[in-house]
Amino acid sequence: MQLIKPDRVILVTGACGQIGTELVRALRERYGRPCVIATDIFPERTSFFEDGLYMFLDVMDGSAIRKIICERGVTHIYHLAAILSANGEQNPKDAWEINMNGLLNILEAAKNNHVQQIFWPSSIAVFGPASTKNYCPQDALPDPATVYGISKLAGEYWCRYYHDQYGLDVRSLRYPGLISHSAKAGGGTTDYAVEIFHKAISDGTYECFLRENTNLPMMYMKDAVRAAIELMEASLEKVSKVNSYNVAGMSFTPLELASEINTYVNNFKITYKPDHRQRIADGWPYFIDDRQARADWGWMPQYNMFTMTRDMMAKLRKNR
Ligand code: NAD
Ligand code: SER
Repeated sequence: MQLIKPDRVILVTGACGQIGTELVRALRERYGRPCVIATDIFPERTSFFEDGLYMFLDVMDGSAIRKIICERGVTHIYHLAAILSANGEQNPKDAWEINMNGLLNILEAAKNNHVQQIFWPSSIAVFGPASTKNYCPQDALPDPATVYGISKLAGEYWCRYYHDQYGLDVRSLRYPGLISHSAKAGGGTTDYAVEIFHKAISDGTYECFLRENTNLPMMYMKDAVRAAIELMEASLEKVSKVNSYNVAGMSFTPLELASEINTYVNNFKITYKPDHRQRIADGWPYFIDDRQARADWGWMPQYNMFTMTRDMMAKLRKNR
């Protein structure tokens, strides 16, 4: 991607999380460091964001959101703050409040303060037991079985409502499980696909909380970050889906990923001890049909399980 002239002030919420740590870096590279305000609920000086502006922002505080937008002249928001699927089931009411009221606070503040564009990630968790499992279509029946999935489905409808009623330009992707090396996974059902790399390198073994044959859709973080930026930069007439786009990267089981890791870590051993997350995983699709995103704004994943594993192993070994 080419560097373009700074013409925006970007607010990122939940910036210290798995996506935020890489998205903030990519946004700063693309639009320039001073354009990107990283925010989260950690104290001001967080080591993640020493190379740019970082501020405390709790998305439950609507007036604090309005203040940052007005004082800093925010034009674009990437709203990432949320509680993920597995953590959400431990405390459903809190997860609902943070995921739902956080989003509504952002939408309301954006509507009233001339924000030009919002990116908000939805999830494959909008699908569930009654949804199509294989090549789950863009307009498949949603059937969320977690409070997280319910909040994502409701969020999709709220985004569409603000678009239709108030003309807010909100764009969204239904991310699958995301795999990255910079930050820990944030308490989701797909976290095993991140943890397994760290444990393979440090211990040579991994105890997986899903069964060996649990096939789930995944995406490498480089693709996920690029997808968000490409969707936000797509011209308006190309965006036919205002609720959220299916996007796919790869699909694999723990057994398949472990055997690929084995080619980099001699004698790597995986064992299986399924826990409460197995029920969530069993409800999700195996593969995602993302033809609509490909046709509308040219989405194309660049990483499969083999190239993702090669890159993860190289990056993690270098960091050690
Ligand atoms: P994460 O859990 O790693 O990060 C979320 C961040 O939100 C954390 O840094 C946390 O401190 C922050 N946060 C929590 N409560 C907050 C509050 N009240 N105010 C401000 N910040 C708060 O999550 P992630 O993986 O980076 O996910 C970001 C977004 O992408 C979420 O909406 C998530 O649902 C979505 N998503 C993620 C994945 C994935 O596999 N990582 C897949 C699909 C969708
Ligand atoms: N990776 C996410 C989770 O497992 C999917 O939204 O919660």
